[in-house]
Amino acid sequence: MWSILRPVLFRLDAEKAHRLTLGQLSRFPRLSATVLGKAPVYPQLKRTMAGLPIASPIGLAAGLDKDGEAISVWPNLGFGFIEVGTVTAHPQKGNPQPRLFRLPQEKALINRMGFNNHGSEHLAQTLRNLHESNRWPTIPVGANIGKSKITPLEEAPWDYKVSTERLQPFVDYFTVNVSSPNTPGLRTLQSADKLKLILEPVMREAKGKPVFVKFAPDMHAADLCEAIDATIDMGCSGIIATNTTNTRPQNTDRLQESGGLSGAPLWSLAQQQIQIVLNHVAQRVPVIGVGGVDSADKAQLLLDMGCAAVQLYTALIYRGPTLIRNMNRKLNQNQERVAQT
Ligand code: FNR
Repeated sequence: MWSILRPVLFRLDAEKAHRLTLGQLSRFPRLSATVLGKAPVYPQLKRTMAGLPIASPIGLAAGLDKDGEAISVWPNLGFGFIEVGTVTAHPQKGNPQPRLFRLPQEKALINRMGFNNHGSEHLAQTLRNLHESNRWPTIPVGANIGKSKITPLEEAPWDYKVSTERLQPFVDYFTVNVSSPNTPGLRTLQSADKLKLILEPVMREAKGKPVFVKFAPDMHAADLCEAIDATIDMGCSGIIATNTTNTRPQNTDRLQESGGLSGAPLWSLAQQQIQIVLNHVAQRVPVIGVGGVDSADKAQLLLDMGCAAVQLYTALIYRGPTLIRNMNRKLNQNQERVAQT
């Protein structure tokens, strides 16, 4: 099916293809779920991460479903947890189009979306509707929050606080995103002192719900370790590493577009950064590994390194909707093999 659909979608502009697919899923959630069927559940893949019961260690990374349009459909693909957003306190259009580019040979994307989203108030309403109509999925749903472009950097804590307050009754966890490359100055908020100023109101408003912080793959190790300590000192539940990269590994600079690079060429950089995170965290909190994961082997490697779970986005675009089910099946086979030895 994907072998027929993919070439059609890939003829379209990348963002148009994305909107078309998401639009169909959100307009016909029940039909989409029926067509996809229920994903097999593997009891051996179930685990608890920061107190959250996840059905599989593979989660949907932020950015694909920013406004939570297709939440009820993602579990049917086999995801064990879902992250929606990034949303901001103010709705915003994001950067001018085109702003999403494919590198098909490299199985990569470059994006400079700039947090286009309907705002955290709108997302809160969407999530409320799902709860009230008993369509809330059986897997955890997290909200990834960022800073609105019009909010000055000094007032960033206010922006994060407002979104946390609005979403708190409805989400299972939060992710504080200080690592997207497409909002001017956002990554400066990764410094330990600035991060503490943001996390203080977020932790208060999260009222005990788990809070993760998501970091960039481009941070220097010393800064990253300082930021991790600040995150743990503030009582956060975990770390997500990594976001997209500003660098252009493996000849990806032949596409002269600015923005964050994701997908296969991010893998080795992300893996190195995840190792630094795991070493420094030393099991104090769970770590979610993200960046170029496109197979069960890569997911297994990150889990064996010590990650509690993984997330992915770009591989879903290139490999299609059966990817997660196939990965779950292989991860389960690995578990069975280990249990037999
Ligand atoms: C992203 N990503 C992202 N991350 C985030 O925290 N908030 C966001 O809004 C977005 N938006 C976004 C848009 C697009 C088009 C892409 C491709 C990615 C980053 C994403 O969650 C993930 O961290 C990286 O893409 C690396 O994982 P993959 O894509 O290599 O599996």
